[in-house]
Amino acid sequence: MSKNILIILGGGRPNGNTHRLVQAFKRGAEDSGHSVTVFSLMAKEVKGCLGCNFCRWGRPCIQKDDFPELAEKIKDADLIVFASPLYFWTLSARIKAVIERLYSLAEKDSDPPLGRYEKYPAKDCALLMTAADNLFWTFEQAVSYYRFAIVNYIGFHDKGMLLAGGCGSSSGKPEIEKTGHLDSAYNFGKTVYLEV
Ligand SMILES: Cc1cc2nc3c(=O)[nH]c(=O)nc-3n(C[C@H](O)[C@H](O)[C@H](O)COP(=O)(O)O)c2cc1C
Repeated sequence: MSKNILIILGGGRPNGNTHRLVQAFKRGAEDSGHSVTVFSLMAKEVKGCLGCNFCRWGRPCIQKDDFPELAEKIKDADLIVFASPLYFWTLSARIKAVIERLYSLAEKDSDPPLGRYEKYPAKDCALLMTAADNLFWTFEQAVSYYRFAIVNYIGFHDKGMLLAGGCGSSSGKPEIEKTGHLDSAYNFGKTVYLEV
């Protein structure tokens, strides 16, 4: 069945490794009949949460930026793909800011599971990342954060991760084409909702 996929691109260079990874995933997903929107945090501004609590419960965030537009897209999406270059061993600050602002989408939960205090919209999620290094620990912090915050806390249902290491440093040309990651991203997009 056709799904509505929202990819939140959390920075990187305009035609860099992460952008290319996202485009490959998007092509794969579209070839399987899904509708894909890319929301680039290079073109749109989403600030971090102020913790003012004005948004509790059901009121919009007081900050003036592009989050309301993103929030509408999140509400319409079946799958939210977080895409980011690895910056200092974790997700980019732009993606972190979006995750903080999900706070304003929370609803009261009268019977929350252990360690959760509110409930969030039910969504699927996935993680796409690129990095210069390709060591066994390269993505450890990012994956840990994704699992703790997005999957375990917010409660999105994980549809998988593509961790594209060895893409070259940001001071050189993008090198993702020298790896197999673009093929993997295409296949990930193509099969993310494959019924088996
Ligand atoms: C501020 C900054 C921090 C980075 N930190 C890391 C890092 O911790 N580990 C790593 O392997 N690569 C790191 N890199 C390299 C990028 O993750 C890598 O080159 C990525 O593919 C760049 O994505 P882009 O081509 O989409 O811009 C860093 C790059 C920048 C600009």
